[in-house]
Amino acid sequence: MRFDQRHLLGIEPLRPDEIGTLLDLADSYVTLSRRREKRSSALSGLTQINMFFENSTRTQSSFEIAGKRLGADVMNMSMQASSIKKGETLIDTALTLNAMHPDLLVVRHPHSGAVDLLAQKVNCAVINAGDGRHEHPTQALLDALTIRRAKGRLHRLNIAICGDIAHSRVARSNILLLQKMENRIRLVGPTTLVPPVLKEFGVEIYEDMREGLRDADVVMMLRLQKERMDGGFIPSEREYYHRFGLDAEKLSFARPDAIVMHPGPMNRGVEIDGTLADDINRSVIQEQVEMGVAVRMAAMDLLSRNLRARPTELSA
Ligand code: NCD
Repeated sequence: MRFDQRHLLGIEPLRPDEIGTLLDLADSYVTLSRRREKRSSALSGLTQINMFFENSTRTQSSFEIAGKRLGADVMNMSMQASSIKKGETLIDTALTLNAMHPDLLVVRHPHSGAVDLLAQKVNCAVINAGDGRHEHPTQALLDALTIRRAKGRLHRLNIAICGDIAHSRVARSNILLLQKMENRIRLVGPTTLVPPVLKEFGVEIYEDMREGLRDADVVMMLRLQKERMDGGFIPSEREYYHRFGLDAEKLSFARPDAIVMHPGPMNRGVEIDGTLADDINRSVIQEQVEMGVAVRMAAMDLLSRNLRARPTELSA
């Protein structure tokens, strides 16, 4: 069992065996989380600070629950978007927090690369909880765990990722992870949201949902990220739903046992039909949330072991 990372900034640096190690440990934390007594002491005595410079419901609460379940002292700092000015502000905040000796820093930031920058300035382990359009590693890991448990494997699957790929850090981290594990990936959506240049990543691209979903084992829907758009990406939400919204008819082109995923928050009636999202025979959306806590427990547990093993110098 090996996991050699000091931080979890993205899927890109992870080896397939490290992903396997993390998911195996997460499986054991699913079992723990289903027990009445959910406490472990893996992070006991450690301080975890959650810094969210962008709104979040499930990711922030998931990290908080994960830390508490492992016995860490967890502090949430809610940073309003309006307080973000320049890179310097972020670094100053990081240095201030660093002086309080946290062991784990969980950071979400609207700018791609901001979390990497911050990680260079502190001596604790840093986890990227989503930076701009760049990466959201724990989301891809929880998706991987959900797929592995539902399908019994995490390789040689046909996986369709649909919708707003262009603005999505979830899509980017998922593409990286699922390719490392040797799956076949199709991206489905309008060219405005699925730029043809993405073919360079070795994925197939479809503009037609029915073609893109044919024989898929996994159908992953993404939210239309209106806050990252500056207009003109889709004709109208109605039209978008008609062509790209997932409903039972379009899903019938996928394999009969295909699972439906969505990272949340969902726009019901825009990218996905509400009834389908709630259909426990097809949708694993609630499982994704459950796996989220377990994956974050596993990630923080592994990083904390490396922290103890290798005390690090502060790079000023
Ligand atoms: C995602 C995010 O914030 O990147 N949500 C999440 O973490 N559950 C996806 C999204 O916002 O659409």
